[in-house]
Amino acid sequence: VEKVFSGVQPTGNLHLGNYLGAIVNFVKMQETHDCIYCVVDMHAITQGVDVWGGPAELARNTREVTAAFIAAGIDPKKHIVFNQSQVTGHAELTWIFNCVARVGWLSRMTQFKEKAGKDRENASVGLYDYPVLMAADILLYRATHVPVGEDQKQHLELSRDIAQKFNNDFGDSIRSHGYNDGLFFPQPEPLITGPATRVMSLRDGTKKMSKSDASDNSRINLTDDADTIAQKIRKAKTDPEPLPSEEKGLESRPEADNLVGIYAALSERSKADVLTEFGGGQFSSFKNALVELCVTKLSPIASEMKRLVADPGHVDKILVDGADRARVIADETMRATRDIVGFIRKP
Ligand code: AMP
Ligand code: TRP
Repeated sequence: VEKVFSGVQPTGNLHLGNYLGAIVNFVKMQETHDCIYCVVDMHAITQGVDVWGGPAELARNTREVTAAFIAAGIDPKKHIVFNQSQVTGHAELTWIFNCVARVGWLSRMTQFKEKAGKDRENASVGLYDYPVLMAADILLYRATHVPVGEDQKQHLELSRDIAQKFNNDFGDSIRSHGYNDGLFFPQPEPLITGPATRVMSLRDGTKKMSKSDASDNSRINLTDDADTIAQKIRKAKTDPEPLPSEEKGLESRPEADNLVGIYAALSERSKADVLTEFGGGQFSSFKNALVELCVTKLSPIASEMKRLVADPGHVDKILVDGADRARVIADETMRATRDIVGFIRKP
């Protein structure tokens, strides 16, 4: 059976890239799949405490991501919404996967290289191990489909490699425990869909829109009010040419391509279709239309998020309830996994 899992880090500044690259697709998948959406607080602490902001900030950001999920339309009653650290299986399966994954595999991860920067010796071991924890997140629920933005593609490939090597390493044991096809863990597939799988910075069309960019003008935050959104889009970098009327005219025009992609994603149209309407026109009028579209789509989410985070007790209850339901599935996977590996346990 197909099952969906995805996660978002509670590291502040949830932005339009998170929304269009991930959360919008989380909402869609609910109609056809059983879904588990996780606020990955254990991933959030892999960089320095100066980066993730300390305990109060972590708790605040965990509630904010939860609120964003719900405000965007995720139903925590029909599906599962919880924070990672409440289900101990994530950490436990990570250890077993640490002994399956190879140092060489992790050394190739581009996100580690970017985040560690020049001073790699000083990066946390957790940052290095981040993709293994991610594989454990997904496979703890034996999830088959993972909606993510483009930047997570390499991590998903690693998850597949870990699943495959585990199944190979323990093949006989897996079969002797009744999994006759030898496939205990599925190979999770990334779902990277829509015209905005990689939303770029508003200040530089060659850089990804990011939570950690020093310039707040580089991104549209999900909590920005209408005036802020309007200002950021009006200031957004463009080039002097009018918009092309065909998609191939966006090649080597990264800023134009990005804004058209955002418009297409938010209006659920194709880029070609958007250019049929706006091609040949000046950026200023296209930007006015984009401001209106962004405000219309995002302000109901912002106000619902505000309402939700004003009642942290309610948000925490949702997370506890979700974790209780997640744990039932996780415990079942962990029991079978311990048996397969050969760890003795109380029968
Ligand atoms: P993170 O904030 O790193 O936990 O990312 C949460 C989700 O948002 C992941 O699925 C990312 O791939 C996605 N994401 C982050 N930044 C962008 C972006 N600029 N464009 C599209 N998707 C993104
Ligand atoms: N690494 C993902 C990101 O930065 C977040 C994440 C953690 C995740 N665990 C996951 C995404 C499992 C999908 C599935 O965006």
